[in-house]
Amino acid sequence: MARLQKLRSQRWLDRDDFRSFNHRSRIMQMGYDAKDWEGKPVIAILNNWNDYNPCHQHFKQRADEVKRGVLQSGGFPLELPTVSLGEAIIKPSALLYRNFLAMEVEEMIRAYPVDGVVLMGGCDKTTPAMLLGATSADVPAIFLPAGPMLRGMARGQTLGSGSDAFKYWDERRAGTIAEPQWQAIMGGIARSAGTCMTMGTASTMTSIAEAIGMTLPGAASIPAVEAGHQRMAAQCGRRIVEMVHEDLRPSMIQTREAFLNAIAVAMALGCSTNAIIHVIAQARRAGHEVGLDDFDRISREVPVLANIRPNGASSYLMEDFHYAGGLPALMARIKPFLRLDQRTVNGRTLGENIEGAQCFNDDVIRPLHEPVYAEGALAVLRGNLAPDGCVIKPSAMSSKFLRHAGPAIVFDDYPSLKKMLDDPDADVTEDHVIVLRNAGPKGGPGMPEWGMIPMPVKLLKEGKRDMLRISDARMSGTSYGACVLHVAPEAFVGGNLALVRTGDRISVDIPQRSIHVEIDDAELARRRAAWKPLPPRFARGYGWMFTQHILQADQGCDMDFLRTEFGEPAGEPDI
Ligand code: FES
Ligand code: MG
Repeated sequence: MARLQKLRSQRWLDRDDFRSFNHRSRIMQMGYDAKDWEGKPVIAILNNWNDYNPCHQHFKQRADEVKRGVLQSGGFPLELPTVSLGEAIIKPSALLYRNFLAMEVEEMIRAYPVDGVVLMGGCDKTTPAMLLGATSADVPAIFLPAGPMLRGMARGQTLGSGSDAFKYWDERRAGTIAEPQWQAIMGGIARSAGTCMTMGTASTMTSIAEAIGMTLPGAASIPAVEAGHQRMAAQCGRRIVEMVHEDLRPSMIQTREAFLNAIAVAMALGCSTNAIIHVIAQARRAGHEVGLDDFDRISREVPVLANIRPNGASSYLMEDFHYAGGLPALMARIKPFLRLDQRTVNGRTLGENIEGAQCFNDDVIRPLHEPVYAEGALAVLRGNLAPDGCVIKPSAMSSKFLRHAGPAIVFDDYPSLKKMLDDPDADVTEDHVIVLRNAGPKGGPGMPEWGMIPMPVKLLKEGKRDMLRISDARMSGTSYGACVLHVAPEAFVGGNLALVRTGDRISVDIPQRSIHVEIDDAELARRRAAWKPLPPRFARGYGWMFTQHILQADQGCDMDFLRTEFGEPAGEPDI
């Protein structure tokens, strides 16, 4: 492999001029001398760590292991911490800040003398955010996933992040669970560093990063606290230095075919619905047209093989998936659906990487002829209620609601919805369709994960555990139920969802991919004429910028001005 002749960092560090003198003297201020950097790729370790992100607790130590690898390969490592988005704690929604982090990553790479980057992320939005930024910056980049936490455990029972929290919360509301058990669940459901260990957004997105080719093979499923994770960190450090010499950049890896591979993998995993938004945004940043229809088409072809909660009746967790062979084993099973000639960060093709990959547990990673769900982890629905589309996860809901029509009960905000949900005498049956609106990208704001609307307590007490729910919000990847999400356009900008009234009949037909409110166009037009927009959510600051520029869910919720085609690339600082 030819070695890159001139490093990007040399523009800062190699010249005999006053500015370079300043740069060098300030690097010497940190105790380094020319031996540390001369002729060596500068590797930025973008560490997505803070004390409020429990999923990335181990990143302080892992950054040192990445540095070890960089030094071994003859690079000069420097750690650049980034804004960290602790999904479970941040309000109102981590999606609000995904683009904020993406901009930070892009601009930090651009502004500093950096030849290659190791991106450390994993907690939900951090993966797409860091990849979005690196995609636009387009310097050699490798992604180190945080890895899932150990499986949850309380009183001898296995617990899955999110999924079991939702499940036992419903049981508690139904009055079937006592305080000591509830306390044990709280202490046992997240018991180590690492990301949610169900097939939530975190593992969906790190697996997608691996399928696209942006991680080393097998990286996505290594438990965060395993020694193997430390070794993977060092390996990333070693490899990124080589990637700089090979000038292997994201634009050479992130082809349209690589994104289609990622969608196929996501479907076989029974992915989080959030994947749709992030993959569309990332593919478009990489310059490829990928949209909802690609998801729906591939979803019809690729069965769900990963028997990981929340898919499957009593299924496994990421730790089991790792022991079963992880993503290479899963990808080997869906080879007929993959474009194997795609290049990955180790310089080899996807096909070469999964050659000989074995599965060690056929119940965790099912063979093609024995899937968890035969077709379609996700379905994209369209109709007068969602002209630009909406999504549902048929693999994680009761099949009773695949075709359903019933009267709407409509809520304009979460507090009024909550009042009904908690009312033991609420006028609601399982035939009703609950509608929550103004929870989209602009309305939420930031499209919070309110889409898995809890079951009304009245129905829980009757033993009911599912019903049709519709919103312009998202839901956690660990959620389940007959929840229609991402309705576009959202109600806040005047989408038809804003015009529905309590009592209107709504019909959803998942096999036919349709969603309708059964009122005619003339009546919709009358209601539209009378519709009044709500006041903007923010009057200043980042939130204001976000609501001015955020695109709708079907377009990946990127900012309009961050799209690649928005304008000429920013170019390289050279002054
Ligand atoms: Fe961090 Fe789920 S809260 S991955
Ligand atoms: Mg989540």
